[in-house]
Amino acid sequence: MSNGFDPFEDASLIVAHDMSNAYDAVVPPIVQTSLFTFTDYDDMIASYRGEKIRPIYTRGLNPTVRMFEEMLAKLEGTEDAIGFASGMSAISSTVLSFVQPGDHIVAVKHLYPDAFRLFGTFFKRMNIEVTYVDGRDEEEVAKALPGAKLLYLESPTSWVMETHDVAALAALAKSHGVLTTIDNSWASPIFQQPIALGVDLVIHSASKYLGGHSDVVAGVVAGSRELIGRIRGEAYPYLGGKLSPFDAWLLIRGMRTLPIRMKAHEQSTVVIAKRLQAHAAVETVCYPGLANQLAPGLTGTSGLFSFIFKEGIDVRTFSDHLTLFKLGVSWGGHESLIVPGDVVLAQKAQPNSAVAFGISPRSVRLHVGLEGTEALWSDIEAAIAAASAG
Ligand SMILES: Cc1ncc(COP(=O)(O)O)c(C=O)c1O
Repeated sequence: MSNGFDPFEDASLIVAHDMSNAYDAVVPPIVQTSLFTFTDYDDMIASYRGEKIRPIYTRGLNPTVRMFEEMLAKLEGTEDAIGFASGMSAISSTVLSFVQPGDHIVAVKHLYPDAFRLFGTFFKRMNIEVTYVDGRDEEEVAKALPGAKLLYLESPTSWVMETHDVAALAALAKSHGVLTTIDNSWASPIFQQPIALGVDLVIHSASKYLGGHSDVVAGVVAGSRELIGRIRGEAYPYLGGKLSPFDAWLLIRGMRTLPIRMKAHEQSTVVIAKRLQAHAAVETVCYPGLANQLAPGLTGTSGLFSFIFKEGIDVRTFSDHLTLFKLGVSWGGHESLIVPGDVVLAQKAQPNSAVAFGISPRSVRLHVGLEGTEALWSDIEAAIAAASAG
């Protein structure tokens, strides 16, 4: 299901700003300022009264940030969007805008680990209860929903990449009067448009595919004017996780190539994941692109997946032998990356558990970048051969 906006045919991602305002520059200027001045007292008081919507202070409204928000809202098919200083800031501000102490959240298992930790630390202290469900089991989700305030989805989930029928889960939530949010960072709006599937709010770590060049940490949330207005009213100004104009400008730059980058990530990753699945050293590959049919609502697959080695393959040797895949967290940029599962499990941050994240110590997570499919596959093949040799 799509929102009707075709990112491959509509030129507005490329021509994304008002030229009349920018000296005909093909790239919009960065409005790098903390505050905006007023012509006189009347101008100022009209703005404070809300009679005139214009930038006053960059923590509230900045034209470069607004340009990015409008681009993302268009891609997600929503009325509005709001940028944040990080994906985590987008997650915390969104959830805190809709839940209060004593409220109940239903979340899918194997969430992004820092979201899981936010729920298990701050939210626990605030007496906000989170029930984790298997998003593939609609009966289990239906049982958990009565009385909940929020259904928190991620599809595919982090690391184990389980996909869900997002439209079915959003419909279930709606029937119980529960608001649905989804972390759509993995698929990006190019391969999954959750609003068209009935989800209320779509969250992104813009540090991933939206930015696409590993030079920004940012977040964004898209939804109706009313729901984004709720976030904009309190959580945004008072928690203060504001997206900076320079980072917004980098995101505008990155999003021009989002559709073609996503296609390139998908093409290479499908080939590599299939070859790994057929490899004698590999037990399981967790990648939504290997199924005969994509999960309902998903129209393509990105470059992030994990796989589990068979016993006897040395993950350390494999990781150290790779030359194109660099050891590094995050994903969504032009470069290929690897994270070994046992390294994540060694992290001191709490709560931390292999069960919560579904991470096997024999697994690795790869991000397939834009270096070229055959070069990347040769790198993996040679590293597996070295890791099998002991
Ligand atoms: C699925 C997912 N959601 C959210 C985040 C958090 O985003 P950020 O690092 O921009 O705060 C990440 C970061 O890795 C992620 O992988």
